[in-house]
Amino acid sequence: MEKVIKIEGGHRLQGEVKVSGSKNATVALIPAAVLANGPVTISGVPGIADVDSLCAILRILNVEVTEKEDHLIIDPTSMKNTDLTADVVTKLRASYYFMGALLGKYGYVRIRMPGGCYLGPRPITLHIKGFEALGASVEYEKGCYTIQADHLKGAKIFLDIPSVGATVNIMMAAVYAKGRTVIENAAKEPEIIDVATLLNKMGANIRGAGTNVITIEGVSELQGCFHEIIPDRIEAGTYVIMGAACADSLLIKNVIPKHIEALTSKLQETGANLEIGIDSILVTKSEGIHGVNITTKPYPGFATDLQQPMTTYLTQAAGISEVLDTVYPERFKHCHELQRMGADIEISMGKSLIKGPSALYGDKVTATDLRCGAALVIAGLLAEGVTEIHDVYHIDRGYDNIDGKLEAMGGVIWRDTVD
Ligand code: EPZ
Repeated sequence: MEKVIKIEGGHRLQGEVKVSGSKNATVALIPAAVLANGPVTISGVPGIADVDSLCAILRILNVEVTEKEDHLIIDPTSMKNTDLTADVVTKLRASYYFMGALLGKYGYVRIRMPGGCYLGPRPITLHIKGFEALGASVEYEKGCYTIQADHLKGAKIFLDIPSVGATVNIMMAAVYAKGRTVIENAAKEPEIIDVATLLNKMGANIRGAGTNVITIEGVSELQGCFHEIIPDRIEAGTYVIMGAACADSLLIKNVIPKHIEALTSKLQETGANLEIGIDSILVTKSEGIHGVNITTKPYPGFATDLQQPMTTYLTQAAGISEVLDTVYPERFKHCHELQRMGADIEISMGKSLIKGPSALYGDKVTATDLRCGAALVIAGLLAEGVTEIHDVYHIDRGYDNIDGKLEAMGGVIWRDTVD
């Protein structure tokens, strides 16, 4: 028996949706919390499977975790540095943040290779370059990394690619390192600012997060604190795209519009009607949207995580749209699933070419990764008939209560089990 999500298409959406806390900030904040010498309370935690996986890893480390509504209280007082070889470590990519956190705290970590969405090659060479620059040795054997250092010393590290994960991991490894660490060509994503904000609240000395040069002065102690997570810009963007695709009027609340400016300006270029508020975005129905070309880039460029749901939207736009993903050049599996539903998409020269508008028809499709799942949910809302989405665990890893949120705006969505 397999759990699926079913969606009956053809129902225009109406109403409002509140965006949850950022998945990609949360999965870094939880490991970062263990660097403190006392309890860290994080609020605005999304109800997603990745959080459950990370809490399971915390408990392996004997870290006390208390969940109260959307708050997590993480108390590392009695923590024990344990080899992280349990299967749960392979359930998500973000488990690799325990490399930087445990190396930073203890000078030693042994951890299995992380898992997560297959989007094409996802090496961690830049993370390792950073750890070695700080004075650590890194060995990889039988699927496990052993990273250790007698003492960590500040260093200057240039990232060949502005990697989100490497920037965060090096920041965490450097908070207790002796002296100054400078990360050059650092990633500038908002989630990095959120992690730096938490660490500075704990007593770290981090400057420049959000720019391409981040400086970390090593300190000797980090205290517990309280932190509220920033809204999830990718979830917000997903619902703005959904609204533009099939809503008469949809208000997306708890948004930092600046975080999805590349998306909203691109949607307006297609002819979508958006009203940008202080902390919300109102999408209303527009007639006659037309195709555009998209090239994904590191923040503040068009987010790679939004090119997949955007592809579904572009199947309804008149003309030809091109999508080039410079971050994950192979991130096109969603196109094959959309083709099954009637989309006119071809992939050539590393780009997807989307011809629209195309009528979509419900079918049995598979979420090959988290954001492909989002693209298929939007396609299901647009399609004639019922769409059955398999491998829904991908969606539940990153979208908090997507069923409830869609039902509240008039979507007809339910879960079922099939043979
Ligand atoms: C983060 O992944 C996000 N995940 C991804 O979101 C997001 O797509 C990605 O950043 C890009 O924005 C989390 O934050 C948990 P990267 P991350 O290191 O850190 C290459 C989602 O759907 N690279 O910035 O793994 C890499 O292969 C997920 O929420 C190296 O070559 O991304 C990729 O081409 C999917 N060597 C590019 O850099 C390295 O050592 C960007 O990767 C590290 C990365």
